[in-house]
Amino acid sequence: MLFPDYRPRRLRQNEAFRRMMRETLLAVDDLILPLFAIEGQGVKNPVPSMPGTYQLSIDNLLKISKTAYELGIPAIMLFGIPYKKDPLGTSAYAKDGIVQKATRALKKKLPDLLVITDVCLCQYTDHGHCGIMDGPIIDNDATLDLLAQTALSHAKAGADMVAPSDMMDGRVAEIRNILDENSCSHIPIMSYAAKYCSAFYGPFRDAADSAPKSGDRKTYQMDPANALEAVREVTMDVEEGADIIMVKPALAYLDIIYRIREEIDLPIAAYNVSGEYAMIKAADKMGWLDGPKVMMESLIAIKRAGADMILTYFAMDAAKMLKR
Ligand code: PBG
Repeated sequence: MLFPDYRPRRLRQNEAFRRMMRETLLAVDDLILPLFAIEGQGVKNPVPSMPGTYQLSIDNLLKISKTAYELGIPAIMLFGIPYKKDPLGTSAYAKDGIVQKATRALKKKLPDLLVITDVCLCQYTDHGHCGIMDGPIIDNDATLDLLAQTALSHAKAGADMVAPSDMMDGRVAEIRNILDENSCSHIPIMSYAAKYCSAFYGPFRDAADSAPKSGDRKTYQMDPANALEAVREVTMDVEEGADIIMVKPALAYLDIIYRIREEIDLPIAAYNVSGEYAMIKAADKMGWLDGPKVMMESLIAIKRAGADMILTYFAMDAAKMLKR
């Protein structure tokens, strides 16, 4: 088909045509809002590099979650900022840990809002790494049981789904086992399967107070240069029992989302991470970009690449725009 026989502009000439031709839809159903729970009462600490995002004590967490629920957002992803940190990250799997308490409160007040909990140790260890340390080394296998205990304690608190983000080898199987052995076979696992070692996580580490005190995460998170390795990681997590697989970050890794979509038939989640959010918010504030338009374009791009759902700090802003 060549011009002038075919004229692509025919089908773009007005909004009704454009609506009819639209291949990808973004819906509020696709959005998951990440939230940060902190100990205390009446706390709402703004995260400077993430305008509109806060560290929230449970009372305020409930308020914001209610607004999200009323906007139609189906799920939140919960991160915890504990009172105390130690080498083994014990508050991650404590019965009265911040995520466990927040989950119980959320499920009581908003039973129909899905609570997904981030399962990792980095916010809870004093060294800030996602696994426990043996000297300078992250001890993969010794970490697995602690991650499994963390996931189980979240499920016992009422979490609807657990999401391991640590990138230790073998953790999905370990978590699946412990859940199944403890009457939690109905709890799905959303695995951060292809999680890259990314500088785009910078603002999150301010929000969650989780930057490693020494070194970096290169021995467990993936090299941004690799794509085949993502296929291997994802395949392993599927075999270990993951129900949803995640690619993270999203915008600089749309090729990975696309590729995983071709290879795997499980639902795919993409994490539109803190740095991606911060860049758009900053450019909007400077008057250099139209923030809301760039937000919507970015989210539709993530879906077009093949994601079924998007974890994004924009969830509330996007839900409001979709409502209009
Ligand atoms: C914890 C975790 C991180 C993010 C989600 N879970 C940080 C990290 O791996 O350093 C990043 C999320 C974001 O940047 O929005 N392991």
